[in-house]
Amino acid sequence: MAQAQGSTWPLPDFNTYPVLHRAVTAELIEHGIAVIWGDGVRTEHHRFVLRENSPDPRTTHPLSREQQLQLTEIPADLTIVGAAVDDDGGVRVRWSAGPVAESVYHPGWLRAWAGGASAPNPLPPQVSWDSSLDLSTVTFDGSHVLAGGDVFDAFLLAMHTHGVALVQGLPVDEDMIERLPSMLGPVRTTNFGHVFDVRTKSAEVTSNAYTDLELPVHTDLDTREYMPGLQFLWCMANDATGGESRLSDAAAITRHLRAEHSDAYAALTTIPVSFINKAADTDYRFVAPFLVVDGDGELVEARWSPWLRGPLQASIGDAERFYAGLRLALELGDDPRFVVSHKLAAGEMLAFDNRRILHGRGPLDRSTGERWLRGSYVEREELESRLRVRQR
Ligand SMILES: [Fe+2]
Repeated sequence: MAQAQGSTWPLPDFNTYPVLHRAVTAELIEHGIAVIWGDGVRTEHHRFVLRENSPDPRTTHPLSREQQLQLTEIPADLTIVGAAVDDDGGVRVRWSAGPVAESVYHPGWLRAWAGGASAPNPLPPQVSWDSSLDLSTVTFDGSHVLAGGDVFDAFLLAMHTHGVALVQGLPVDEDMIERLPSMLGPVRTTNFGHVFDVRTKSAEVTSNAYTDLELPVHTDLDTREYMPGLQFLWCMANDATGGESRLSDAAAITRHLRAEHSDAYAALTTIPVSFINKAADTDYRFVAPFLVVDGDGELVEARWSPWLRGPLQASIGDAERFYAGLRLALELGDDPRFVVSHKLAAGEMLAFDNRRILHGRGPLDRSTGERWLRGSYVEREELESRLRVRQR
């Protein structure tokens, strides 16, 4: 049974740790200790993991809670000479050498960070989607989002789980493209500026985005070592015919490829591709697979670039495999089975994970009216940090 949050024992971080199980015994093992818990689980804890994370003020700064005792100040032959569970449930360890003689550990912290356990405050799982996604389930009222309360929290959560959120009814101010994203973290400046404008009135064409062309779905800034994690598109006006926004989920497409097209999946997740921007005064390059996946084969990052790839430098055989896979992936990205469309209206902001959610646009006719979107980027880790802090 869960007990009250433990505040009896100091902690080496700012998280809270519910004591879900009491420590029953602690015993010495080679290079560490083993703890037996009330639910019968046995966990092992290495001597240096314990020593470095001792919450005492000599090891952990009481204000910053950062480690201030360096590993090199800790003797390499340090051993644990005694281990016990205190009457109040703290786990006490006695050291063979100083500068501190003993350390006492919060049982919730000890259990949470045991080898093999998943780290505390995990983010909720992502929800991949296809064309059946009902955008209204990730749509939020602008005044409530700006107020920063529960609706703002729900907006953050949707951006994490679904990778996309729509905010409606915002005041049509030019600076909204900085104001709302700044609630998550610093806006990231790129070679397109602190914020960028996609406007039919603009004559300068430094990107396909600044034309009337239909834009296949893509991720932005694939040429960067660290692609912007979150993208915001803010609608100031959208009176021209056409130009609806299109979105698809590369995480869902990656799963589909893995299940149905294993050759394409293998090629796109392993063959290195050079992503190179084409501009008179910048030369950004990055080499990576088209799809980066984790150990479970799930998407970490898509560099979904229909048009910013350098010439593929691969064997003839790999080039054949890559192009077959790429053609299939690009077709799937714009396939109605995967795409959700929405024509942005003035006062609406679309927010999405730029490393997962693909965005594109239907063709438009600028002779029929004005279309003015403003865009900005914030890093994905700002969102994740905020979600973890709110879990504390
Ligand atoms: Fe884009």
